[in-house]
Amino acid sequence: MEYLNIGNVKIKKTAALAPMAGVADYAFRTVAKEYGAAYLVGEMASCKGLVYSDRKTAELLTVTDYERPMAVQLFGSEPEFVAPAIKIAERYNPDIIDLNSGCPVPKVAGNGAGSALMKNPKLFGEMVSAAVKATDIPVTVKIRKGWDDNTVNAVEIAKIAEECGAAAVAVHGRTKTQMYSGNADWDIIAEVKQAVKIPVIGNGDVDSAEKCAEMYRYTGCDLVMIGRGACGRPWLFREIEQYFNGEEITEVTFDERISAMERQIELLVKNKGEYIGMKEARMQTGWYLKGMPNAAKYRAQCGTLSVMDDLRRLIAEIRENNERNQ
Ligand SMILES: Cc1cc2nc3c(=O)[nH]c(=O)nc-3n(C[C@H](O)[C@H](O)[C@H](O)COP(=O)(O)O)c2cc1C
Repeated sequence: MEYLNIGNVKIKKTAALAPMAGVADYAFRTVAKEYGAAYLVGEMASCKGLVYSDRKTAELLTVTDYERPMAVQLFGSEPEFVAPAIKIAERYNPDIIDLNSGCPVPKVAGNGAGSALMKNPKLFGEMVSAAVKATDIPVTVKIRKGWDDNTVNAVEIAKIAEECGAAAVAVHGRTKTQMYSGNADWDIIAEVKQAVKIPVIGNGDVDSAEKCAEMYRYTGCDLVMIGRGACGRPWLFREIEQYFNGEEITEVTFDERISAMERQIELLVKNKGEYIGMKEARMQTGWYLKGMPNAAKYRAQCGTLSVMDDLRRLIAEIRENNERNQ
């Protein structure tokens, strides 16, 4: 198995789970890790929110030892908030601190943070420098291809990140205006890789072991990062590891799919309580059941989950129907 180093952090060169606010929470990250995810990134947390002592924001920074190596991700647009936010983040002992420079949602980009930093290279550099100066923990950045098709500047931004002391750069091959539509441009990831010496993490549209291998080959990136392709399919990380080890890929069974779903939701409820946990479970379970026989019916039932027993009943029904159809 090959490894890469981000600063002093050693990471298996298989695949990382991408940060996904509201999705890649403790429960999903833990299950992804159980299936072999090489590196995890927490949900983005606002620098300002942290500095103003928002409890919910701070909870996003929790790193359990099992999840290591793990980054916490910060976003913001005011360099003066970066150092104090990092001091708070340090209490959670993350392995890496990632600066979000790719988020397209209006709440973030509309305030000059996330992907909007790519429109303002000077401010982006100040943010990275402020972060690097504030901590001994490796600081990384996650960027997009650019703001829009007329301002593709991932290479310029990645070079600034490197000059300002970033330890790695993750590139999602879409512009901000693309949001999540169209195909990710892997050429831009390859161009960034050619332009900087720090490790480059390639991201966008990987949803199988073959595509993961292709991303490494095509872009020359040092690590592949997967978001949506792993939602409701955490065993993808096992498939990737087996593929890279030259082993036969273990096809996930029906039973295992259901068990993984149940495990994730149990962890979710343990972590966030039944009320919030079951609300969030509606979306997560929907992804697990996608493509199964009767998926539409089961997914509609997922939309009404409100207590753990609802899920247990649904699982019993799904298993029963499956046995009957064998
Ligand atoms: C629901 C959702 C939430 C996301 N939240 C974040 C986030 O908090 N920070 C971030 O850097 N990227 C975030 N992203 C972007 C992903 O990390 C990733 O760059 C993007 O989904 C492309 O990768 P994929 O094609 O493998 O999904 C989010 C994406 C989705 C779909």
